[in-house]
Amino acid sequence: MRIYECADYQGMSRRAANIISAQVIQKPDCVLGLATGSTPIGTYKQLVEWYNKGDLSFAEVHSVNLDEYRGLPGTHDQSYRYFMQTNLFDHVDIKVENTNVPNGMAEDPAAECQRYEQVMADLGGIDLQLLGMGHNGHIGFNEPCDDFPLITHLVDLTASTIDANKRFFASEADVPRQALTMGIGSIMKAKKILVVVSGADKADIVRRAFCGPITPQVPASILQLHPDVTLVGDSAALAEIKKEGVKVCG
Ligand code: GLP
Repeated sequence: MRIYECADYQGMSRRAANIISAQVIQKPDCVLGLATGSTPIGTYKQLVEWYNKGDLSFAEVHSVNLDEYRGLPGTHDQSYRYFMQTNLFDHVDIKVENTNVPNGMAEDPAAECQRYEQVMADLGGIDLQLLGMGHNGHIGFNEPCDDFPLITHLVDLTASTIDANKRFFASEADVPRQALTMGIGSIMKAKKILVVVSGADKADIVRRAFCGPITPQVPASILQLHPDVTLVGDSAALAEIKKEGVKVCG
């Protein structure tokens, strides 16, 4: 695993965008696995800036997003489809038909999860998967549990995730209680993984995920077994992991 320490959120965003750009430049028809949450917003902003400068094109890129709330249509301003449109897709030349987000409105979530797995298989797998991390170590919406879920599935959100995400909704009651998410197996199949973390409030979970035991109680800890993971964080988020003596690049 490579760890890059950046001074602040902006530096983290720029470094992560650099890694994604390198992927797109090296393989213009690559498959990007994309993430939501507040952490990658700056990364997307930077990619849009470089696209506007003419340094980057997404014309041949396909994308698959990690997850979507159940019950929110893509037009809802808190749906992850809406997030992706407004933070990235609407501002670059990616073809909307080449972008994939699970359908949170699917009447049959099990069939939708199966369809989503097939989409990833038909695309030949993910070249680079971008990940944020929840405070409880969730990746996508794979919450702490007893077994690592393998494939895209419907999940009940934990109280801590509902609490963390209520800031985006009018009230806690408005936060959907379920989501469709890629499984840990779907994520681990990605050829490369890029994790972005920012802020002192993530420092402890970063240490537990990357230096603690591999356990489904900390879903991100499975990433220790992936052969090509890059962790990009600001100094605050990396403060605890650095105390474990891991090698960090500037
Ligand atoms: C949500 C998303 C995750 C994301 C997490 C962390 O729950 N499903 O993919 O990593 O939030 O969000 P933030 O970056 O805002 O801390």
